[in-house]
Amino acid sequence: MTKTPTSRLDRLLANLGYASRREIQLLARNGRIRLDGAPFLQADTRIALTHDLEARLVVDGEALDPLPGFALMLNKPLGVTCSRKEAGPLVYDLLPPRWRRRDPAISTVGRLDKDTSGLLLMTDDGALLHRIISPKHHVAKRYRVGLARPMTGGEAELFAAGTLMLEGEDKPLAPAELEIVGPQEAILQVHEGRYHQVRRMFAATGNHVETLHRQHIGGLALPADLAPGAIRRLTDADLAAIFADGSGG
Ligand code: URA
Repeated sequence: MTKTPTSRLDRLLANLGYASRREIQLLARNGRIRLDGAPFLQADTRIALTHDLEARLVVDGEALDPLPGFALMLNKPLGVTCSRKEAGPLVYDLLPPRWRRRDPAISTVGRLDKDTSGLLLMTDDGALLHRIISPKHHVAKRYRVGLARPMTGGEAELFAAGTLMLEGEDKPLAPAELEIVGPQEAILQVHEGRYHQVRRMFAATGNHVETLHRQHIGGLALPADLAPGAIRRLTDADLAAIFADGSGG
C-alpha cells in the first residue's frame, strides 16, 4: 500500500498561495483555519494530504483550494496568450489570483495561439502534462477551422498522406484527418503539436486560416456550457476521456 503523503499545514498553505508561512501560523493561532469543524491552532503540525482534505479543511470560512496534482480546462478566449514571452493578457490572468501563486505552478498543457480559441488544459502535475503532450500517447486534437478561401479539393488526401513537409522542417507530418464542413470550413484532427501546425498546414495548400477553435483533446470535448474565459476543474472521468480517444487516433 502506498503511504499517504503528509505536509506541515503552513508549508501546504504557503505553497497553495494563501500567504507566507509566518502569516499562516498567525491565521491558525487566530482560529481562522478549521479541520473537521475544529480550530487547527498549530500550523507547524503535519497533516495527511488525503483527497477529502479539500472538504475538511476550511480557511477563513472557505473550502481549501485544490491540492497539488490537479488539472483544469479553460475555454480560451481570443486575444489572450499562453506564453509569457508574448505581449497581451495571459491565460494565467483568468485563474483565481491565489492559484497564480502556487508552487508547483500551474502551466498550460501545450499552447494555443493568441488568435485561437477553445479547449486548453492546465495543470500543476508535470507527469500528467507530459502524458498528454507526448506523441507516444497519441492524444488527438480536433480543431474547427475557418478559411479565407474555398478549399481546392486535394486537402484531405494531402493531410492524410503522412508526407506533408512544413516549411523549415525535416520530418513530414503524421497523417491527419480532415472533415469538410463547407467550402471554407472544416474539422481537422491532428496527432502532433507542432508550432502553428494547423495554420501552417493550410498555408501549405495556398490557403489562410482565419478562425481556429479547438473542440476536443483526445475524447474530451469542450463543454457547450463553458463560456469563453471560464475554467472548470477536470474530473477523473474527464481525465479518462482524454486518453480514451474515440477518434481512432
Ligand atoms: N495549430 C495552430 O496553428 N495554432 C494553434 O493555436 C493550435 C494548432
